[in-house]
Amino acid sequence: MTNTDSTPLKRSSTGPLRLGIAGLGTVGIGVIRLLRAHPALTATRTGRPLEVVAVSARNRQRDRGEDLSAFHWYDDPLALAHAPDVDVVVELMGGAGDPAYALVTRALENGKAVVTANKALIALHGNDLARLSARKKVPLYFEAAVAGGVPAVKMVREGVAGDALTQLGGILNGTCNYILTQMEETGRDFADVLKEAQDMGYAEADPSTDVDGWDTAHKLAILTGLAFQPIAFDSLDVQGIRAITTVDLHFAKELGYRIKLLGVAHRGQNNEVSASVQPCLVPLKSGLAQVGNAFNALTTEGPFSGPLTISGQGAGEGPTATAVVADLIDLGRGHHVPLWGAPPPEKPAICQPIGQDESPFYLRLTVKEHAGLAKEISELIGKHGIKTQHSAHHNSTGTSYITIVTHPTLTSTLRSVLPQLKQHDAVQEAPLALKIENMP
Ligand code: HSE
Repeated sequence: MTNTDSTPLKRSSTGPLRLGIAGLGTVGIGVIRLLRAHPALTATRTGRPLEVVAVSARNRQRDRGEDLSAFHWYDDPLALAHAPDVDVVVELMGGAGDPAYALVTRALENGKAVVTANKALIALHGNDLARLSARKKVPLYFEAAVAGGVPAVKMVREGVAGDALTQLGGILNGTCNYILTQMEETGRDFADVLKEAQDMGYAEADPSTDVDGWDTAHKLAILTGLAFQPIAFDSLDVQGIRAITTVDLHFAKELGYRIKLLGVAHRGQNNEVSASVQPCLVPLKSGLAQVGNAFNALTTEGPFSGPLTISGQGAGEGPTATAVVADLIDLGRGHHVPLWGAPPPEKPAICQPIGQDESPFYLRLTVKEHAGLAKEISELIGKHGIKTQHSAHHNSTGTSYITIVTHPTLTSTLRSVLPQLKQHDAVQEAPLALKIENMP
């Protein structure tokens, strides 16, 4: 899959690889800092120096804590796609639309290699970009788009390339994992911890991208494209973590579980793919339960490779910059792995609905207590064929709750009963239903 003879990067195999960086936020400045910290190491590993020659960002006046005076400044990022002294465009602006989309497509059209950390762009337009990259014979690399500093793309696209994976997934969003960890450990509320995650540079510009599950979905769509086949992003089933409260984290722990936002994809016997993002209960003793704060973890499962897990910092300046520079080193070495690791299909596939997935569920109902209520609720869900494994009453600061753990139930069945539970006289707000996931 490595093609060393047709990229514009062969301009000089020993002269500097000249970089134009669009976007000087956390990651862009991190890349400049890393290259300044390790010029000899990165040059030795690449076989040539990595040299930033041009930059572009929205606000030229902002003090970013780094001297940028040696670089050619472009107010218009699209100029980097045409700059004759730029070999590689490094797109770190984010966003699936323009200017990121225009910059990446124009750079590829102009024969310039691209490195990006833009997961929304690859998740939504990856197949078109793969086709453009293949047609122009110009590489587009995106290690930093998935799980920050964790080499998730390399693991799936290269490390286990020989195996027909059956499942992959894990914790793919540092902000949500940080929020859930801190809420559980400190009892602080959601908004308070989210603000802290933003201050630490983990969260997206619009944090709803993180907390509503979309960022995890972007990363899962990319990994699914690498492991199985490219998928239509809007066919993913996506739920975020807004409905999770500190009482759920507490109840889950009492039951022997921890709540994590997981992105999981499966390949079926006929190569059909199902993929979903949802907060799940994982056993306290599982590996995933040990992955806290802004750390991410990805597990793959295949008939030859077995289960394989990597974990590390999924967000933040240093880890994400490391992933960007790893791509630059690969490009400087003359590598060109196709975007999906294989020729792109004409169109992405549609994911299977997840309704046929079967697992136990955790249900939490906020209730106005009356005698026999738990039995009434168990009977109501029992009419739909849902069997109760365990149920309990709780009282916390004057509010009453009923929690139920079900026997394995189809997701479609479980979801169909939720509106009836919500309408029950004693139920005070929308019930929470979380899958109990048994990943390692
Ligand atoms: N907002 C993302 C996260 C950044 O929290 O994981 C890294 O992709």
